[in-house]
Amino acid sequence: MLTQAPRGTYDLFGSDIRTWQMIEKEVYTLMEEYRFQEIRTPIFEHTELFQRGVGDTTDIVQKEMYTFLDKGGRSITLKPEGTAGAARAYLERRLFADAQPTKLFYLTPCFRYEKPQAGRDRQFYQFGCELYGAGGYMADAEVISIAYSLLTRLGISNVTLHINSLGGPQCRKAYNQKLAEYFMDNREKLCPTCQERLNKNPLRILDCKSPVCQEVVKDAPSTIDNLGTECREHFDNLTKQLTELEIPFVIDSGIVRGLDYYTRTVFEFVCNDIGAQGTICGGGRYDGLIEELGGDPTPAVGFAIGIGRLIMAMEAIRGKTVWKEEADLYIGHIGDSAGKTASRLAFLLRSKGFRVETDLMGRSVKAQMKYANKIGARFTLILGDTEISQKEAVLKNMADGSTMQVQFEDLEALGAAIR
Ligand code: HAM
Repeated sequence: MLTQAPRGTYDLFGSDIRTWQMIEKEVYTLMEEYRFQEIRTPIFEHTELFQRGVGDTTDIVQKEMYTFLDKGGRSITLKPEGTAGAARAYLERRLFADAQPTKLFYLTPCFRYEKPQAGRDRQFYQFGCELYGAGGYMADAEVISIAYSLLTRLGISNVTLHINSLGGPQCRKAYNQKLAEYFMDNREKLCPTCQERLNKNPLRILDCKSPVCQEVVKDAPSTIDNLGTECREHFDNLTKQLTELEIPFVIDSGIVRGLDYYTRTVFEFVCNDIGAQGTICGGGRYDGLIEELGGDPTPAVGFAIGIGRLIMAMEAIRGKTVWKEEADLYIGHIGDSAGKTASRLAFLLRSKGFRVETDLMGRSVKAQMKYANKIGARFTLILGDTEISQKEAVLKNMADGSTMQVQFEDLEALGAAIR
């Protein structure tokens, strides 16, 4: 137990963490270009936020949340996703009072008590974007283009964008009735959870993972065939705009999403190379959420990408990236006085931006050189008593073996030699 991480969690280190950092760097660059601002909300929120936001008939709320009472007796939940917390902050921090639209992004851990398998973890990480205040299809296109750009820049070409529309509250009402009637006729074939959902939220049945329900769902009426004029126009304009942006997509009436807040546009980027959990990115419009949480009616649209699945898709194409670790300089030393000088030199060179290591283990010179090799040092400098008294030492270029004498106290000269 003590040396075993909880099921569905993992440690990130070595080459893997370098890949994550590279992706995070891409995200920050992209977000600068699109002018989205980062938001960091707490890891936990009041449970009610997710019950109201994500929806209490969803799998997430019914089965997957990490919920506990804190010492004050309040019900607290570890965030299962990023949208509800960002929406809460939008209201609480009065971001609606700023120039609209408000454009936020986050990189956050999320927690869901799911059955772990490849691409499905209990702690996972999302990069998400949320855009508030713009109700037109152009906002949908802008948000989709962000996800598309990130995937393209990372060379992830093995994904397909699936889009659908769930309609707004008006068309949903009529559709829900039609759907409920269909499921009512097939009631006995549904799983017990869905029999219950039938009365509360028949749309959720479309998303049920149970094979018996999926069999019934196959012939259910689809949202896209039941849109009112305005929702239809919104959807058609969006598909035209995506075509204009040369973002390939397929219309897929099977995309219903597992969260309750969606209205109109929903979309997913799906990869077929990474097993059963192929949805890398999910998102859509959610024009009712801000009002549901107590704000004024405010249109919103966003998505989240699971970083773990993103990397799986990337690695399915180009294999695992092995990052070569490298230092600019390794300063070896023998003797007390040389050790102190080495430490001071390393300190000063680092402040000039050089990547420097020196011995902290009291190793022999031979073992120090072995270590320098291991960490990929480009240059080595060895200091002993003679070097200290003469203020001169041998700098070795590890790539070609060439050496030169350097006056190591002259930091400008030393810096220039190892640049
Ligand atoms: P979601 O589809 O539940 O949507 O999750 C988004 C992405 O998070 C998934 O496509 C997947 O890559 C990743 N993900 C979800 N669950 C797991 C898991 N157990 N293990 C690993 N990765 C996982 C949302 O969370 C919405 N908040 C997205 C959104 C933002 N819609 C509007 N704005």
